[in-house]
Amino acid sequence: MKIVLLGAPGAGKGTQATKIAEKYGITHISTGDIFRKNLKEGTPVGLKAKAYIDKGQLVPDEVTCEIVAERLKESDCKNGFMLDGFPRNVFQAEALDKMSEIDLVLNIAVELDKLMARLTGRRVCSKCGESYHISTFAEKRCPKCGGEIIQRADDTEETVGKRLGVYAEQTKPLIDYYSAKGKLESVDGMKPIDEVFAQIEKLLDSRN
Ligand code: AP5
Ligand code: MG
Repeated sequence: MKIVLLGAPGAGKGTQATKIAEKYGITHISTGDIFRKNLKEGTPVGLKAKAYIDKGQLVPDEVTCEIVAERLKESDCKNGFMLDGFPRNVFQAEALDKMSEIDLVLNIAVELDKLMARLTGRRVCSKCGESYHISTFAEKRCPKCGGEIIQRADDTEETVGKRLGVYAEQTKPLIDYYSAKGKLESVDGMKPIDEVFAQIEKLLDSRN
């Protein structure tokens, strides 16, 4: 199945994508993770992306679309994939239409005013990328892989504010874009993580 995970910053795209990949074995592609990996490795793409990520802005479409087009050609995408964080505006959605036929767009619906606390309290594993939250987690090492727990550089109050603004202006219109194509299904992302996943399982199982 070819899935797009849609949702505001902090909606839980990465959290749910990990669970979907574990249960259904679907390849998880996060453009944010790809940029952060490039940044860590000091590649030209990483250096270019850094300026935008630090400001909470979108990396230019031509860079992002090229990365996704190349990634979708890899063999682990032959039987399907799950995009997390792409597309993020109508230009990218139209570019994706030319790359592949998406089966399902899963919109994780959240209340935007609750997301600041989720994101400023998020901690991630520097090795495997797993997300945690300070309200329930105080370890210094990742329980899954032993990697160091860090805070993402763009999870400051100022940058989160800008990311939420970019979402409202550029990404939210994709709800209507995919709804008009009959591809959109929404789940309630304000529920606890396992309940959100149960809603997603129901949707995916009904299609298998
Ligand atoms: P990206 O990495 O995609 O970040 P984002 O969209 O801002 O989303 P997040 O990763 O912050 O949130 P998430 O929905 O994955 O939430 P998570 O599961 O971690 O992009 C970063 C930057 O890269 C962009 O700003 C841009 O510059 C660039 N970029 C990326 N893609 C691009 C593109 N296509 N075009 C241009 N530029 C691009 O959860 C968040 C927290 O909440 C965690 O602590 C988690 O434990 C907790 N949580 C999750 N679910 C729940 C729940 N149900 N209840 C309570 N807590 C929960
Ligand atoms: Mg994420």
